[in-house]
Amino acid sequence: MLGLLLALSMILAGCGGEEVKSNEAGGKKALRVVTDAAYAPFEYMDKDKIVGFDIDVLTAAAKEAGYTVEFNHVGWDPIFVEIEKKRADIAISSITINDDRKKSYDFSIPYFLSTNKILIPETSEIKGANDLKDKIVAVQNGTTGQAAMDALIGKNSSNIKKFENNNLAIMELIKGGADAVVADNAVIEEYAKNNPDKKLKVIRDDTFASEFYGMMFPKGSAIKADFDKALNKIIENGTYSKIYKERFGTEPDLEKLKSQQNKK
Ligand code: ARG
Repeated sequence: MLGLLLALSMILAGCGGEEVKSNEAGGKKALRVVTDAAYAPFEYMDKDKIVGFDIDVLTAAAKEAGYTVEFNHVGWDPIFVEIEKKRADIAISSITINDDRKKSYDFSIPYFLSTNKILIPETSEIKGANDLKDKIVAVQNGTTGQAAMDALIGKNSSNIKKFENNNLAIMELIKGGADAVVADNAVIEEYAKNNPDKKLKVIRDDTFASEFYGMMFPKGSAIKADFDKALNKIIENGTYSKIYKERFGTEPDLEKLKSQQNKK
């Protein structure tokens, strides 16, 4: 009996010991990453798995930096709460780096260039942002798309319909409850392309600014520097371009990305 107990405790101790060892070997514990996985092709659900360009980039950067990561689909607004309250280590969700957000969060170096565009029915007469002034526009709440429409149409205008996620905004357009959706170009372009039966088109407007996505961290995060370094590394060693080509079928504009990184 005693022998059995002894053997058992040795097994248990052995397990514990091994766990510590593998942690030491792996270096760092798994990081909690939060996202809003309703924004294809950047982050979306494939059955019960979170996938997309952002997921690939963060996974590659984490590997480079020696971290393991665990992705959690929490939704858009909760991302900011999770990071603010330091319940998550990183957020990745096509988050545009801007001065307002920089007050409350830290960001990695930029990893993607985007701009808002306008999704409308093929038959729409809307030609650009100016034509949206007296129209009903659906946006995802709390995004740069909403901010652009606040500035154009008026902050509290009921003509701006705000949704918890971007797919709901697109649904509103399809069912005729809105004249347009304003969101990141790659997202609405992919939607229009993959759903030809919905007869939608995307138009651009040069008054919409260039935006750069960053990984978002709690203020003062100790791991931000590791991820900046890792991002630079995967941009330099071709891993980033490979991921980009797989998702978008084209080469990334690395020069533009790098020149933005040097701006402060
Ligand atoms: N780029 C825009 C922003 O930062 C929209 C991002 C929305 N992302 C998402 N996963 N729904 O405001």
